[in-house]
Amino acid sequence: MIQKVSIIGLGKLGCSMLAGMASRGLDVIGVDVNPRAVEAVNAGREPVQETGLGEMIAANKSRIRATLDVDDAVLNSEISFVIVPTPSDERGAFTLQYARYAFKALGQALKKKSGYHVIVLTSTVLPGATRHGLLPILEQESGKKCGPDFGLCYNPEFIALGSVIRDFLNPDFYLLGQFDQRSGDLLEAVHHRVSQNHAPVKRMSIENAELAKIAVNSYVTMKISFANMLAEFCEKLPGGDVDVVSDALGMDKRIGRKYLTGGFGFGGPCFPRDNVALNFMGAQLGVDSRLLKTNDDYNRGLSKRYVEKLQPHLPKGANVCVLGLAYKPLSHVIEESPGIYLCRALSEAGYRVVGHDHLAAPYAEQALKMSALVTDSLVTALKDADVVLVTTTDKAYTSLTAETLLRGRAQITVVDFWRALPHLAADPRIRYVPIGRCPDDTAAGARLEPLWA
Ligand SMILES: NC(=O)c1ccc[n+]([C@@H]2O[C@H](COP(=O)([O-])OP(=O)(O)OC[C@H]3O[C@@H](n4cnc5c(N)ncnc54)[C@H](O)[C@@H]3O)[C@@H](O)[C@H]2O)c1
Repeated sequence: MIQKVSIIGLGKLGCSMLAGMASRGLDVIGVDVNPRAVEAVNAGREPVQETGLGEMIAANKSRIRATLDVDDAVLNSEISFVIVPTPSDERGAFTLQYARYAFKALGQALKKKSGYHVIVLTSTVLPGATRHGLLPILEQESGKKCGPDFGLCYNPEFIALGSVIRDFLNPDFYLLGQFDQRSGDLLEAVHHRVSQNHAPVKRMSIENAELAKIAVNSYVTMKISFANMLAEFCEKLPGGDVDVVSDALGMDKRIGRKYLTGGFGFGGPCFPRDNVALNFMGAQLGVDSRLLKTNDDYNRGLSKRYVEKLQPHLPKGANVCVLGLAYKPLSHVIEESPGIYLCRALSEAGYRVVGHDHLAAPYAEQALKMSALVTDSLVTALKDADVVLVTTTDKAYTSLTAETLLRGRAQITVVDFWRALPHLAADPRIRYVPIGRCPDDTAAGARLEPLWA
C-alpha cells in the first residue's frame, strides 16, 4: 500500500492536493521552485488562497513537509504528482515549458532511485503531450525505460477554485490515463485511499484521458452557451422566462439541470482556454471542431451584445455600476471574467463605468485602468450610479435593498443577470431588467404574429 507521496508544484491545485492527501493519512512531500511556497508549507501555512487550505495544512503538519529538492521528494516517496502551470501559448495550445523543466528534474531523480516509482501528470495538457512531449525527457534523463523501470499516468482533476479540496476529495469520478497496468494499479490505490465518497475510477489510455479531461470542460461550456442563447430567445417571446424553460429541460435525464441557468458567459482560468485548445487540436488533426470555435466566439461576444441590448435602458453618458468583477462570486480571480469584459464594452460604448468587487478589486483595478474606476466599497460604487448591473450571485449583491440602491433618488435601473434580486421587481422606483425574461409581452407578441397569421 502506498503511504508516501510527493507533489511537484504547490499552487492552487497542487497545494490543495497535498493538504487533501495528508488529511487522508498519507505522508506528503511538496516541491516548488518558489522558496516562499516551500517556506509557507513548512511553517504550516498556505502559500496560496483556497478555502480551508491553511487550516488543513496546519491540522496535518506532522504528515507534510516541503522542499526545493526534487531528488529528495522522489527518493522519499513512491509516487509523484506533477501540477505545474501549462498556460496557453500563442497558438491556443498549452505550453509544456514548466512541465518539461519539472520532468527533467524528475528524470534525473529517477536515475538515482533503485526502486520502482510512478510519475503522474495532473496538469492539463492536450492529447499526445504526455507520451510524446514529456515521457522522452524522463527516459533520456534517467537512462531508464517506462514500464519496467518506472510508471507513468495522466490524471487530471475536476475542481473549481474556492472548493478545490472538497472537489478533490469528493469527485464524480477519477480520470486515470495509464501507460500500463502496473502504473494504473498503483495510482488507483492512492485514489481509493484518498476519496471520501468512494468515487469510481475510469481507467483508459493516456491519450483518451487527455481528450476526456478537456472534453468535459468544453461540453459544460456548451451547456452554458446554450442556456445563454435560450435566455435571449425568452427575452423575445411573450411571457418568456429562461428559468421556466431550463427547469423543463433539466427534467430530461439526458440533459440535466446543471449549468443551464442562462445569465452570463463563462470565464476563469480553465473553461475559455480549454475550448480554444481543443479547437487548436481539431485543426491540427483535421477534425471539424467548428462547434468549439463557435462556442468560444459566442461567449466572447456576449458582453458587447448585452451592452447593445441594454442601450435602450442606459441613457447616453449614464453612470453605470458593475457589481461583480471576478469570474464567479467569492473569488479574487479575474482571468477571462465576464464582469471585466462587460466594463470594457460599456466604456467603449461611451458610459462612465465604476466596477465593484470585494475580493477582486485590487486585481481588477489594473486590468480596467483604461476603462473603469474600481472600488471594493459598495457605498462608493453605488454613489452616483444611474444603472446597476449585477453580474454574479454574491450575497452582498443579491441582498441589496431598494433603499440602498436608490440612496434618496427617485429612480434607478437594475440589470439582474441571474434574476437573483426578485424582491426589486415590484418596486415602482426601480426599473428592474432581469436577463432572460421578456421585458415587453405586447411587443414580443407583435413580433410573432406576422410569422403565423
Ligand atoms: N486551478 C484550477 O482551477 C485548475 C483546475 C484544473 C486543472 N488545473 C491545472 O493544474 C495545473 C496547475 O494549475 P494551478 O492553478 O495549481 O497553477 P498555479 O500557478 O497556482 O501553481 C503552479 C505552481 O507550480 C510551481 N512550479 C512551476 N514550475 C515548477 C517546477 N518545475 N517544479 C516545481 N514547481 C513548479 C509554481 O511555482 C506554482 O507554485 C495547470 O495545468 C492547470 O491547468 C488547474
